[in-house]
Amino acid sequence: MTSHAMVEPIDPANSDRLTLEDVYEVIASSSRLDNPEAPVLTFDEAIGRLKNPQPGLGQVLRWAVRRGNHVVGLASLYFPEAENSHLGLLELTVHPRARRGGIGTAVLRTITPELRVRGRTVVECWNITEGGAGASFGTARGFEAVSTTVLQMLSISTVDRSVWEVEPPIGYRLVSWCGLAPDELLASYAEARRAIADSPFGRSAFRFPAWTAERVRESEADRRHREIDHRVVAIVRQDSDEVVGFTELQVYPHRKNFAYQGDTAVLAQHRGHSLGFCAKAAMLRWLQTERPEVEQVMTSTTAANPYMVNVNLALGYRSARRMVILACETEKLAQLLRA
Ligand SMILES: CC(C)(COP(=O)(O)OP(=O)(O)OC[C@H]1O[C@@H](n2cnc3c(N)ncnc32)[C@H](O)[C@@H]1OP(=O)(O)O)[C@@H](O)C(=O)NCCC(=O)NCCS
Repeated sequence: MTSHAMVEPIDPANSDRLTLEDVYEVIASSSRLDNPEAPVLTFDEAIGRLKNPQPGLGQVLRWAVRRGNHVVGLASLYFPEAENSHLGLLELTVHPRARRGGIGTAVLRTITPELRVRGRTVVECWNITEGGAGASFGTARGFEAVSTTVLQMLSISTVDRSVWEVEPPIGYRLVSWCGLAPDELLASYAEARRAIADSPFGRSAFRFPAWTAERVRESEADRRHREIDHRVVAIVRQDSDEVVGFTELQVYPHRKNFAYQGDTAVLAQHRGHSLGFCAKAAMLRWLQTERPEVEQVMTSTTAANPYMVNVNLALGYRSARRMVILACETEKLAQLLRA
């Protein structure tokens, strides 16, 4: 650790206002430098995100790095469960003015014992800008880029919405819901969700969940508890309750003008009919009607899936930047940090 910096656990839900203002300054100044094309979060959005973390990623531990009286760095380490209980997911941000002083490395030293004690054999950092500071830091500290994704953004006010006016092809119907899948579609929907595992995810150690009806209901309850508006458009075979594909989108309570387009999948035997485009277009029409305050939609897609990247372009998204997933085995990291 640098002689002046201390890495300390932090709980944003129980932190004083001055600490949170410092934390916000780390997040906002880094965002302006590292992601200049993205809107900078407001204080409430950024702190709301820390207090209400993304669902499905398990328990999270957070640390603040203090230098003198100020917070100059923030780290969050997620411990996903079930098929991902071998994995730790790290988010790490150092204030631009405090970089290259060993703070990022000090955080790696702090998290390594936490990874070990929880049996997390691999640590990954997601959404790292290709060619940016995070990628250089990762390379210097033994991480490898294992997958590349494309971040795409859609601006509701400027997009040509006429391209969203498409009907499902003959033989299919669309069924939409907020928060709770209809009972009669539940089992089939869980099965369709498993088709996302066909999406190429490079050499990341992340494993897609083996969705079951029970796990769908658990995840729905978790989102309700976090007050997330989770919307699904399912593609259903006409005259049946067979879900053959779906797309999902969510809006968080702390960021009401922003939507995250999540997973989209179509079962292999139903591909080639533009069903993914049709479901995503229906989702955007629905969003525009029911959540007119949403100004931007964001999505990230693996670069090895140019088909879905192009579907998004056709819907009016623009590609903002390429990002990588960095991965390192915990034992390798521990060894390199000792050296
Ligand atoms: C990545 C980040 C956390 C690094 O924090 P940091 O405190 O500057 O990291 P360190 O000082 O411990 O850097 C350790 C080594 O990584 C390498 N490194 C770090 N940043 C670098 C950069 N911008 N360019 C080239 N090498 C870099 C260097 O080898 C450095 O050692 P050196 O300064 O002695 O040459 C910081 O740049 C940041 O917040 N970036 C934006 C968020 C992000 O991408 N996070 C992902 C983390 S995996």
